[in-house]
Amino acid sequence: MQLNKAIKNRWSPRAFSRQKVTDEMLDLLFEAARWAPSSRNGQPWHYYYVRREDKETFQQVLDILTGINPGWAQHAQVLIITVMRRKHEFNNLPNGKALHDMGAASALMGVQAAEMGLQIHQMGGFDKEKATAYLNLDTENFEPVTCIAVGAEGDANQLPDDLKKRELEPRERKEKKEFVIDLGRH
Ligand SMILES: Cc1cc2nc3c(=O)[nH]c(=O)nc-3n(C[C@H](O)[C@H](O)[C@H](O)COP(=O)(O)O)c2cc1C
Repeated sequence: MQLNKAIKNRWSPRAFSRQKVTDEMLDLLFEAARWAPSSRNGQPWHYYYVRREDKETFQQVLDILTGINPGWAQHAQVLIITVMRRKHEFNNLPNGKALHDMGAASALMGVQAAEMGLQIHQMGGFDKEKATAYLNLDTENFEPVTCIAVGAEGDANQLPDDLKKRELEPRERKEKKEFVIDLGRH
């Protein structure tokens, strides 16, 4: 047995190539998110997307990003704003797992992207108020969670030096023993 290859290959690049994301690929990304598990099967996720060809809208979404993000995300093929529904549809009461389930859907999207030779890069660095106003969201019930850049991995040399250094650094993770606890042995 081995780790699923797409999980192994998934990462969050900041350099994107000019390779197009086809309609079929984009549809499969959303299909992957669609099949995520969610509390009471509430499926609280929403994906607002724009392709780079739609220049004006692409720029408007880019303008929602903050910090270093617009600098590299401008090269993505597709930008997404994720929005969660905060209340369950069936009873209109707060869904305490909405954020969790939004993240789960996007995680599956990331694995599907890697499976197709693409990558997604999720971003918490964006202006939530701006995104809310831009999408004209009913704040009682809807909340932007992340923005996502989508594309195929590009050449790290296209990045400014500081980002290039980070792009090429080895990826690190905690050891499993730091977060996996066998209750049977305590
Ligand atoms: C919810 C979330 C928010 C993130 N926000 C940003 C961000 O604003 N800018 C950025 O460059 N990367 C961001 N990242 C990417 C993480 O830094 C990245 O996933 C982490 O360093 C692990 O690297 P890997 O995805 O390549 O395995 C975010 C990732 C997640 C899941």
